[in-house]
Amino acid sequence: MIRKCLFPVAGYGTRFLPATKSMPKEMLPVVNKPLVQYGVEEAIEAGLDEIGFVTGRGKRAIADHFDVSYELEHQIAGTSKEEYLSSIRNVMAKGSFSFTRQPSMAGLGDAILQGRRLIGDEPFGVVLSDDLCVTEDGDGVLSQMVRLYKQFRCSIVAVQEVPEEDIHKFGVIAGEQIKTGLYQVNDMVEKPEAKDAPSNLAIIGRYILTPDIFTIIENTPPGKNNEVQLTDALLSQAKDGCVLAYKFKGKRFDCGSVSGFVDATNYVYENLYGK
Ligand code: G1P
Repeated sequence: MIRKCLFPVAGYGTRFLPATKSMPKEMLPVVNKPLVQYGVEEAIEAGLDEIGFVTGRGKRAIADHFDVSYELEHQIAGTSKEEYLSSIRNVMAKGSFSFTRQPSMAGLGDAILQGRRLIGDEPFGVVLSDDLCVTEDGDGVLSQMVRLYKQFRCSIVAVQEVPEEDIHKFGVIAGEQIKTGLYQVNDMVEKPEAKDAPSNLAIIGRYILTPDIFTIIENTPPGKNNEVQLTDALLSQAKDGCVLAYKFKGKRFDCGSVSGFVDATNYVYENLYGK
């Protein structure tokens, strides 16, 4: 029922300079796999196999990653090295990949709006690949959210409790708990100061959005940092209808920060690599 997933990947990755000067931050490897591939695998596993990237200048390596590298395939055909390509071959066999560009860095809301033609008029997922999400039992965060969507048919944001000193880094929600770990959102603020935050439930980079969000974004003025914020559009959607916040099961690493990236690398190496 939900088939498509958008990946906004136009951001600069300044926190990883100089590594990201000529390489997309989404291509940084967590052990031996680029960050973005983890997100794409999570989407495909949830049944969202039409992947749309909202990309920008300097990001061509992402498109190349999800395409055949003819010379490489030719060189290693029939050798033991072929097994190193098995995960990406698997992703390529199951998914389709489309690309559009965000001409200017005008915020996450704007990035989603740029993806409108790739999505059309149907519900879709969004993955911010900086947030690497892993689960012990392999039931990915997007899979958990798709099941909820089937039940409630409205936009859903993934949330996690965060310590007070981290609140200013996130969109933060407030809501009425309708069952354990599930809230009907009635307030949402993008990157508030801790003292102004409506709760300690922070939005993590996994969303399911209903397509009316596009028109709402079009009518959403720039907010925090003078950028069009998805959080602001979702608050309008929540006021006129329903937006749910879901405290997901699993671990999340902030791979947009150096320390989160190192934690993710250690975790993946110790728990997932080679399994
Ligand atoms: C974005 C969203 C924010 C959310 C965060 C999750 O911010 O705007 O609401 O909490 O992703 O990672 P960014 O980190 O891209 O600035």
